[in-house]
Amino acid sequence: MSTISEKFAQFGVVPVVVLEDAKDAAPLAEALIKGGLPCAEVTFRTEAAQESIRIMKESYPEMLVGAGTVLTTAQADAAVEAGAEFIVTPGFDPEIVDYCIEKGIPVFPGCITPSEVAQAVKRGLKTVKFFPAEQFGGLAAIKALSAPYNMVKFMPTGGINAGNLKEYLAFDRIVCCGGSWMVKGDLIREGAFDRICELTREAAQLAASMR
Ligand code: 3PG
Repeated sequence: MSTISEKFAQFGVVPVVVLEDAKDAAPLAEALIKGGLPCAEVTFRTEAAQESIRIMKESYPEMLVGAGTVLTTAQADAAVEAGAEFIVTPGFDPEIVDYCIEKGIPVFPGCITPSEVAQAVKRGLKTVKFFPAEQFGGLAAIKALSAPYNMVKFMPTGGINAGNLKEYLAFDRIVCCGGSWMVKGDLIREGAFDRICELTREAAQLAASMR
């Protein structure tokens, strides 16, 4: 069975989703699956996150669904209870990371500095999020961090889109990129699931061309 990180690598892109209303969870999941990225990081920035994860996993059990913007261990529990298979945190929070490791929940903490990467490495993590990627030096920063920390891979997120995706994926220490460009809030609110599907397909094809 593939690890979560191996699945990320197969997809090349992990859509980062903010759902205001859980009624959008099933049509959104369908659009992502049809577009070729059967995967989502559902962020705990809204009240609808837990229910959205549950609906996605129940409607499409084959889909890889995780939780993002996890800021407390209670949110990690709520996410896992709903069916989340991985946890992403924006920064390196030792309490959440240790909690997930202890419970055997795959966790991808945000690490932007050598000190944060060092803490992840010390705990045996093999893949970390690099967020916010573009604002904190982008690919050049990841390459610099990869020199001393060549045992860890990165999932850059923040400011990535169809225009710069291939540049990131060309570097072999990058497992996949996270991003919201194919699942923007206005598209979800408008119910523009066909457009989401098109943008997802474009992202999936760009990623596939790099594998
Ligand atoms: C995240 O939480 O990972 C980011 O909000 C996604 O960044 P993006 O919206 O720039 O893709």
